[in-house]
Amino acid sequence: MTFTLLQRAIVACGALALLSTAAQAAEPVKVGLIAPFSGSFADYGKQMEAGVKAYQSLHGDTVAGRKVLVIMKDTTGPVPDVAKRLAQELVVRDKVDILAGFGLTPEALAVAPVAEQAKKAMVIFNAASSVITTKSNYIARVSMTLPQISAPMATWAVKNNVRKVVTLVADYAPGIDAETAFKTNFIGGGGQVIESIRVPLRNPEFAPFIQRIKDARPEAVFLFLPAGEQGVAFMKGFRERGLAEAGIRVIATGDLTDDHVLPAMGDSTLGVITSFHYSMAHDSRENKVFLSAYSAANPGAGRPNFMAVAAYDGMAAIYEALKKTNGATDGDQIIGALKGMKIMSPRGPIMIDPATRDIVQTVYIRKVEKRGSELYNIEFDKFADVKDSGK
Ligand code: PHB
Repeated sequence: MTFTLLQRAIVACGALALLSTAAQAAEPVKVGLIAPFSGSFADYGKQMEAGVKAYQSLHGDTVAGRKVLVIMKDTTGPVPDVAKRLAQELVVRDKVDILAGFGLTPEALAVAPVAEQAKKAMVIFNAASSVITTKSNYIARVSMTLPQISAPMATWAVKNNVRKVVTLVADYAPGIDAETAFKTNFIGGGGQVIESIRVPLRNPEFAPFIQRIKDARPEAVFLFLPAGEQGVAFMKGFRERGLAEAGIRVIATGDLTDDHVLPAMGDSTLGVITSFHYSMAHDSRENKVFLSAYSAANPGAGRPNFMAVAAYDGMAAIYEALKKTNGATDGDQIIGALKGMKIMSPRGPIMIDPATRDIVQTVYIRKVEKRGSELYNIEFDKFADVKDSGK
């Protein structure tokens, strides 16, 4: 059989078209992960990176026929200008398809308009002030919100005969959210908040505040501090100034006793009660799988905390969304796929609320206890299907 020139040209064009679809299919999906990797919040980025690695070690780096490439960028901390510039560069220069990460609220708020304008899905792995998901319809959150976590702590406290409390929070959006939700529920339940203290987000000097708490003589202090060094510093001052001996208990969001820093906080945390969405000690098959993948993929990284879990779940959400869209990364399609998504997380069942794109999950009440020679947050009570109550 002989082919005319035209027929040959048609065959050649078809082959070319096939080749270019194959090339397109082989293009990686790029995820730009924006978080602090240096400075006093450096652990946030490191936990997220380790969570991503744990996920990809179990599920591979390809989904719906496309490789998933995660590009990490360091904001250095709660610096909105840097976060925004990095997001713009990721979108314009690196041509990322999805924005992710965000350890601190100021980073997420600075990037929201970039996601909105570029129509890119933005998946929050930690930043937890309520308002973030209202800043663009392209934002979905897989972590938590401070009202979601703080309201159950207040409910538990009034039920357990705590009546007189001082609150102490970091003075920025998540702290104000925690203070407001705690107060609303605690006072609503018959409790009394005798003083509310706000401390600077950066390098707070706790000594004078701890003295104020002692002088106010509450039954308990309710705390929200961003995870990490600050909690260690607070508990050190609390111990040194003898607040426990003065009969003052600590109740807090679980950021205080986050699994990564808990060993460094030592025995002064024994008995501290917290509310939170994740504990390393959570007893489930999914958590065992996560913990072993985490340590295998990240030798020497120490304990994972809730940010590693949120990054692991965030990757699961992105992979599941890409399966639903057959590998398409269009922002509207990805967000559409994330709405209503249910995942069995190492923390328990989670869902992305289709109406708000915020997370719905179980909030656990935990107590710091020793298991062997190690400190853990041991869950002993829970509130199921909790939504963000801050909006
Ligand atoms: C936040 O800035 O949104 C944030 C940071 C650390 C936390 C929780 C929330 O532990």
